[in-house]
Amino acid sequence: MAEKHFKYVILGGGVAAGYAAREFAKQGVQPGELAIISKEAVAPYERPALSKAYLFPEGAARLPGFHTCVGSGGERLLPEWYKEKGIELILSTEIVTADLASKTLTSAAGEVFKYHILIIATGSSVIKLTDFKVQGADAKNILYLREIDDADKLVEAIKEKKGGKVVIVGGGYIGLELSAVMLLNKLDVTMVYPEPWCMPRLFTADIAAFYEGYYANKGVKIIKGTLAVGFESHANGEVKVVKLKDGRELEADIVVVGVGARPLKNLFKGQLEEDKGGIKTDAFFRTSVPDVYTVGDVATFPMKMYGDIRRVEHVDHSRKSAEQAVKAIKASEVGEAIEEYDYLPYFYSRSFDLSWQFYGDNVGDAVIFGDSSPESEKPKFGFYWIKDGKVVGVFLESGTPEENKAIAKVAKLQPPAESLEQLANEGLGFASKI
Ligand code: FDA
Ligand code: NAD
Repeated sequence: MAEKHFKYVILGGGVAAGYAAREFAKQGVQPGELAIISKEAVAPYERPALSKAYLFPEGAARLPGFHTCVGSGGERLLPEWYKEKGIELILSTEIVTADLASKTLTSAAGEVFKYHILIIATGSSVIKLTDFKVQGADAKNILYLREIDDADKLVEAIKEKKGGKVVIVGGGYIGLELSAVMLLNKLDVTMVYPEPWCMPRLFTADIAAFYEGYYANKGVKIIKGTLAVGFESHANGEVKVVKLKDGRELEADIVVVGVGARPLKNLFKGQLEEDKGGIKTDAFFRTSVPDVYTVGDVATFPMKMYGDIRRVEHVDHSRKSAEQAVKAIKASEVGEAIEEYDYLPYFYSRSFDLSWQFYGDNVGDAVIFGDSSPESEKPKFGFYWIKDGKVVGVFLESGTPEENKAIAKVAKLQPPAESLEQLANEGLGFASKI
């Protein structure tokens, strides 16, 4: 089979790939120089839509509506855009071996791709219950969500099991977003997770109490502090019962599992330096091998603000890291330098009528402000995190665009705070005056 040569190859066709392509076009790329190789069958799109509007019972989002870069208010890059720019989209193509020494990638079908510069943007894959050998976990209708094909399976199952019972395994992002959207589809929803409260990596007990109360009021049943340890199926192979560690058994027509993700870096094992579960980079997303960059979920990069190194599995970083890497590549070609990546962590989620944003670091002491009663008609509340007398992180539910901008500024500037009481009393007023 003939080899294909490119000056730049982006391996992976997700969010980071779309934003990297746009940056290449901005910086100037000649037709035929850049290729994106993706195992997905579609051009890069905004993955967050899959757990939200893609699953709505009415007015659901569909491609080409949410190709990158609409998620951040930018131009929608349709397949024709790539064609016009001479950027080759090599879709439905899984790379199965990567040899960095010879700068060669090989696909499952045996195609060979050579590059001068490689950007690894492979993202993450879902952790499956079959990975832990949970008994019966290979039953039909035990579903996961990462790519658009997974979302289509969910859409099918929702249609087929109208009014049925859904068990959501996991109390993280997927758990919370999927249980909400399943309820909107008029399914009977039960969430199960092992921790004492949902989203424990970010939420305090108080934040979680609001969301758990709000979800319960909507009709979501929540079972905490236990695990799914087995499944029973019908004769046709479809899941029937979820068995919990505490002995309870739940009937289920559909099970959605969201128990975390794993960065996809196996192709490079032993070839690149790793740290904190990802591929280690510098502030320009250069890896330990010359001409190889990595961005998005797989990159472990220096977090300048906090003086440490981290891996971030959120869309804002995937976009910004992609842009940073391309800028660094183009600058180095003309012997110029660019500023180091200086990332302010930004995470968000939306479900029902709720929408929260978080900026900064959730370390130190935390204090709540505002109305966090799940019974309120218009709940609006937030949290400040204070470390060494400075405000280092802010969470806000139902903020306006201006208020969200204000909390981002606080997290970036880290203003001093006299006391937790001051912040609790001033609430959003504290952020607005910074
Ligand atoms: P991404 O996963 O987007 O892309 C990786 C691409 O590489 C995929 O196209 C994959 O097929 C391809 N690939 C991998 N291995 C390959 C191989 N060997 N050969 C060829 N192709 C290969 N974040 C947030 O901040 N807010 C939100 O609301 C959400 N919502 C959300 C919903 C859902 C359902 C998911 C799964 C994730 C989110 N996220 C999120 C997280 C966010 O989407 C995620 O951090 C980014 O998509 C990461 O971008 P990457 O480009 O790194 O990976
Ligand atoms: P997560 O890490 O947010 O949550 C995993 C949850 O799984 C844990 O909180 C825990 O409750 C549960 N869990 C772990 N082991 C379990 C077990 N054996 N049995 C039952 N529950 C168990 O991961 P996720 O929700 O699966 O999300 C996957 C990826 O998608 C992450 O990278 C996440 O950042 C991303 N995502 C982000 C958003 C967002 O930012 N709004 C939305 C959806 C997905």
